[in-house]
Amino acid sequence: MSRPKVFVTRKFPAVGLERISSSFDADIWEGELPPSREELLKRIQGCSGVLTMLSEKVDDEFFDAAGDQLKVVSQYAVGYNNIDVESAKRRGIAVGNTPGALTNATADLAFALLIAAARRITEAHDYIHDGKWKAWEPLGHIGWDLEGQTVGIVGMGRIGQTFAKRCHGGWGMNVLYTARSPKPDAEQELAAKRVSFEELLEQSDFVSVHCDLNEETKGMFDAAAFKRMKSDAIFINTARGSIHVQPDLIDALKSGQIGAAGLDVTDPEPPSVDDEILHLPNCVVAPHIGSATRSTRDAMANIAVDNLEAGIAGKPLRCSVT
Ligand code: DGY
Repeated sequence: MSRPKVFVTRKFPAVGLERISSSFDADIWEGELPPSREELLKRIQGCSGVLTMLSEKVDDEFFDAAGDQLKVVSQYAVGYNNIDVESAKRRGIAVGNTPGALTNATADLAFALLIAAARRITEAHDYIHDGKWKAWEPLGHIGWDLEGQTVGIVGMGRIGQTFAKRCHGGWGMNVLYTARSPKPDAEQELAAKRVSFEELLEQSDFVSVHCDLNEETKGMFDAAAFKRMKSDAIFINTARGSIHVQPDLIDALKSGQIGAAGLDVTDPEPPSVDDEILHLPNCVVAPHIGSATRSTRDAMANIAVDNLEAGIAGKPLRCSVT
């Protein structure tokens, strides 16, 4: 009997690829970069399942190209703003993602960016490499203290709460947050206080973004938002680049409207090498590596393959968004 056809849009951890190859007629894209749109639409034809990355646009054109036998799209990420979930639902196609597995790794990266921005680590690193370090400097590279500051968390889901735990438990920070609904556990355990977006901007020393990208959150950090923030505030974004308006962020960093930023996500992503965001001394940028630890990526791979297998078998997915 022929095995169901599956397309995997990039190489991902071996633990997942081996499982896919042993169960399915697997076509795995070997390129270092994602397949072109044309190639993608060609390769998914006749597939029962497609394992996608956040780089693929999964929309009506995608579903039409795949054909009526498509049963599941399994996204190797927790975020799925690249997928038209409503269209998938209408067509009866299951969509899965990988929540939970990357919570700690992403919260850690957000904290790493916060420390790096606050203590001006990349600026200091470049200073040495540029041959400028001549002696210990009583006034050089003065940064921010973390202990006891106020952190504002936008989006108090799994990752936001885990980041908040690090801030409160490790560094004694006061935690403010915005979220669609109150989070009683966080309020009890972390003395976290739910406030309006405006209050959060005005009162926080550090603002960290942990919400989904959707119509409501797209561009929410614009010139007006940066203007409300403290002039030495640090802005951290490990969620999605288009939650901030990048030209407005650049202006805010250059004009001293805010103090510094740490970004794991940019808009566009990736930025061109001459994008100004990469050349500001007070901005630390990482190439979307929030989930990039060995055990996290393996765990994400296993969830994504569980979702793929369940979807093709017509069973409920381990982690479904439909
Ligand atoms: C996600 O999972 O959405 C991250 O952005 C990539 O791991």
